[in-house]
Amino acid sequence: MVNKLTILKLGGSAITKKSKPLTFNSNSVHKISKVIKKFNEPLIIVHGAGSFGHYYAKRYRISDKPTTSTKHVVKIRDSMQLLNQKIVKIFHENQVNTFSFSPTSMYINKKIPNDWKKILQKSISFDLIPITFGDVLLGNNGFYIHSGDLIVHDLCKLLNPKRVIFASNIDGIYQNPDDVSSLIPIINNNKNNLKFSKLNYDVTGGIKTKINQSLKIANLGIDVQITNGLNSKTLLKALRGEHVGTIFVGDKM
Ligand code: IPE
Repeated sequence: MVNKLTILKLGGSAITKKSKPLTFNSNSVHKISKVIKKFNEPLIIVHGAGSFGHYYAKRYRISDKPTTSTKHVVKIRDSMQLLNQKIVKIFHENQVNTFSFSPTSMYINKKIPNDWKKILQKSISFDLIPITFGDVLLGNNGFYIHSGDLIVHDLCKLLNPKRVIFASNIDGIYQNPDDVSSLIPIINNNKNNLKFSKLNYDVTGGIKTKINQSLKIANLGIDVQITNGLNSKTLLKALRGEHVGTIFVGDKM
C-alpha cells in the first residue's frame, strides 16, 4: 500500500486569497475537493498558511526566528486551526473524508517518530485522508514556524510515497517568470540541468523554498510535480501521474 501513496501539498495561494488577510478561497477548495473525490488512491494532504498563518507570521516578523510571545503563538495557531476547519468542512461536504491533526501532535524534537507511520497507514487503510498543515511548533528557544513544505519532506522520509504534488497558483517553475514559454518541464537532479544561479528572477522565499524542498525530496528517489491547484484539470492529471507543470525526477543521489 505504501508505495501507492501520493502526498499533496496545497499551497496557501491555492486555498486562500493571499493578498487579503484572513481570506479563505472557498470556491477553490470546493473545486479541489471535487478533484480529490475523483482520485481514488491513497493520499495524504498537507496545506499551507496563505493569508491566515503567514499574515501573522509576517506581521510579528517571526517567519525565520522563534517567538516566546504567547500572543503570537495564539494568533497563529487559531488562524491555522480555523483555516484547517474551513478546508475540512468543505472536503466533508463533498464526501472527501479526512483525518485531521495538527503537526504539534506529530513532531517530537523536530522529528516525526516512527510510530506515526502505522497511524497514518492505518487511517489510509480505513479510506481516510490524513490532513495536516504548516503551523507553529515548540522548539528550544520558543515557538517557530514549521512550513507545510518541510512537513511534506519529513513525511516522505517516513512513508516513501510514489509521488509528491505541490499545488499552488503557478503552473510550474519558470526560467523567467515574465515569460510563460519558459516553463521548465523536467528538472533532473543528477544531471543538474537547472542553473539556479542563472534563474532570471528575484527568487522569493516561497519559490526558493519550494525548489529546495523539491530537490531534497527528489534526492530521496521520489518524483515531485509542481502544478497549479487552481486548475482542476491539471491537478487531477498531476495526481494521476500525468506530466503537467514541472517535474523533479526522483533519483537517489
Ligand atoms: C506556513 O506554512 C505555516 C505558517 C506560517 C504558520 P507554508 O509555508 O507551507 O504555507 P504556504 O503554503 O507558503 O502558504
